[in-house]
Amino acid sequence: MYTITVMNPKGGCGKSTLAVNIAGMYALQGSRSKAALLDLDPQGSSRFWLQQRSPDRPPIGTATRRSAVPADTDVLVIDTPAGMSARQLVLADETDVLVVPMLPSPIDVAAARAFLDQLQGCKRIRSGRVRVGTVANRAREDTLASARLEDFLEGLQIGGHRVEMITMLRPTHNYVYAVDRGLTIFELSPSRCYYDQEQWQPLLSWLRRGNTGR
Ligand SMILES: Nc1ncnc2c1ncn2[C@@H]1O[C@H](COP(=O)(O)OP(=O)(O)OP(=O)(O)O)[C@@H](O)[C@H]1O
Ligand SMILES: [Mg+2]
Repeated sequence: MYTITVMNPKGGCGKSTLAVNIAGMYALQGSRSKAALLDLDPQGSSRFWLQQRSPDRPPIGTATRRSAVPADTDVLVIDTPAGMSARQLVLADETDVLVVPMLPSPIDVAAARAFLDQLQGCKRIRSGRVRVGTVANRAREDTLASARLEDFLEGLQIGGHRVEMITMLRPTHNYVYAVDRGLTIFELSPSRCYYDQEQWQPLLSWLRRGNTGR
């Protein structure tokens, strides 16, 4: 099972938005990969999304405990709660890839710095066996705040291994609209979401690179 964990202790940075869109994207590939969402957040945002999802959309398994993840899952996407705990570090250490969404604000950057420092405590991350990548979320390309976030993200390392800045996602109501209907941005019309779907391509390629069928 290929495990993708979306994590950042900072609240509201886009963890659930990324988690449901990643799981939905794998589900859209049909029988090639059975996707499941593990929602570890008591707020239940990913579960809410799944509840809105129409039964005629490609199915996605669901669980709130690791032991309850459907046994035939090929790709597991873990949505984690805000806040940092010893459990988060264990989760970060056990995944194949760790996706860290970040908002372009000085407060979020400071919090992210502390979080990335904590990740040094994870053995598999230090050794490079867990790939860590960041996504600048709700970021406008031509703003100073986004430029500052990019400066921070470029050259980031954990244990000598590069933390890749994967892509930048613009702020758009399309994410809110899709989540409300249990859809991904890949299931909305290209005329509405073409730009967003393009912005996702580097993330999809980055995720596929790590899926070696473990
Ligand atoms: N790129 C975006 N453009 C516009 N709105 C966005 C974008 N990304 C996320 N949002 C909205 O921002 C809010 C917070 O996003 P989300 O719930 O995904 O964050 P989170 O990190 O999971 O929050 P929490 O820490 O509370 O679990 C949601 O209302 C979501 O729809
Ligand atoms: Mg959430």
